[in-house]
Amino acid sequence: MKKDIENRSDIELLVNCFYVELKNDALLKPYFQHFTEKQWHNYLERMYLFWENALFHSGGYFGNPLKTHREIDSKNKILHKHFKRWLQLFFKVTDSHFVGTFANHAKQHAYNIAVVMELKLKDKNLS
Ligand code: HEM
Repeated sequence: MKKDIENRSDIELLVNCFYVELKNDALLKPYFQHFTEKQWHNYLERMYLFWENALFHSGGYFGNPLKTHREIDSKNKILHKHFKRWLQLFFKVTDSHFVGTFANHAKQHAYNIAVVMELKLKDKNLS
């Protein structure tokens, strides 16, 4: 029986499973191919903090995802098809492990950020 996302270990499960999918996805894996083991470790740690803060307001994430993705986009364009696939995978992984308010909140949050980020990457004047 599936349950809701309730704590840090649920977030670790969600993030770990999502990035396994991502690493195996032909469209998205090129963005991560250069990562060393150490970079993966640091990146996953940041993503746990990001999602813990987004869902439970833990206050532990200090970052600027837009700036990070602008830098990625300047080297390797992130297009609509990439955002679409990113969301498809995130929704699939969330639904395959969890059900409930926080699971819905995670999907809504990912969707909102993806939409805004895509818009802002296209328009350099939006900060
Ligand atoms: C196709 C879309 C996306 C691609 C290809 C992508 C790729 C990446 C990559 C390669 C990094 C690591 C940057 C580095 O440390 O060198 C990163 C960081 C990150 N991504 Fe994405 N991303 C995408 C969409 C999203 C979305 C929709 C979200 C929001 C839920 C998100 C949230 C983050 C966060 C929070 C970080 C960490 C930023 C930091 O350093 O604090 N990404 N992304």
